[in-house]
Amino acid sequence: MTRTVYVNGEYLPEAEAKVSIFDRGFLMADAVYEVTSVLDGKLIDFEGHAVRLKRSLDELQMAEPCTKDELLEIHRKLVEVNEIDEGLVYLQVSRGSDGDRDFVFPSAETKPTLVLFTQNKPGLADSPAAQKGAKIISIEDIRWGRRDIKTTQLLYPSMGKMMAKAAGCDDAWMIEDGHVTEGTSNNAYFVKNGKIVTRPLSNEILHGITRKAVLRMAAEAQMEVEERLFTIDEAKEADEAFTTSASAFVMPVVEIDGVALGDGTPGPIAKRLREIYLDESRKAAI
Ligand code: PDD
Repeated sequence: MTRTVYVNGEYLPEAEAKVSIFDRGFLMADAVYEVTSVLDGKLIDFEGHAVRLKRSLDELQMAEPCTKDELLEIHRKLVEVNEIDEGLVYLQVSRGSDGDRDFVFPSAETKPTLVLFTQNKPGLADSPAAQKGAKIISIEDIRWGRRDIKTTQLLYPSMGKMMAKAAGCDDAWMIEDGHVTEGTSNNAYFVKNGKIVTRPLSNEILHGITRKAVLRMAAEAQMEVEERLFTIDEAKEADEAFTTSASAFVMPVVEIDGVALGDGTPGPIAKRLREIYLDESRKAAI
């Protein structure tokens, strides 16, 4: 089946979808994005992603391409026509193009470019990777200082994943000033003596939509949560660890820099949180 994608008001077969070579998303990574997961053909936490998108756009003085209701309609239509039961919807808004390359922002009349496409991922919820758990390495965090804005500047996170792969691992956690910031595409947590520890929100990390939901669910399940800075050594000495993201939900971490956590298998709190998150999210999906 040919994938149908959305570009600036049109639903098109992917091969026919086109964006200008002068688009600032392409030339300057002057673009923001969201990834929303789909379970049972329904959107998980659409509202959270729409609110964060608006915030990213506002922080960069970028115009909203359409209303929230229109965005919801586009998401739903793409899920439907592409017959997505489990998968992802990728959305990107760039500052568009006024037909040339210039560091100065284009005029206010320039229309933002809006692109959405689906990724079919059967077995996303029941993933073998989550049953095995992830092995991670730690790397220096050399990204820019506004990681709270979800921009498409993903070269370094992408290089981080490649460094992890080269080391025979699955992902990387980044470290700045001696403390873990986050994973290449997820938020980071460890558990010690039953207490979940994660870095507090700031400009240094993305304000994960899954993070917010998981912390709420952890509190509801009477789990203890502490938001504070932590070192990679603390994480290595933890009983268990995990990451959260829209694309992998709650992903247990079983090894950090070659050090096995606990017995080297996914920990009970990570497994329980994954179950609760999937269960609650399915119920609230729209
Ligand atoms: N990444 N931190 C970073 C750097 C991320 O890129 C992501 C998400 C998260 C988790 O945020 P959320 O829970 O809202 O997905 C944290 C997406 C999934 C991606 O780039 O594909």
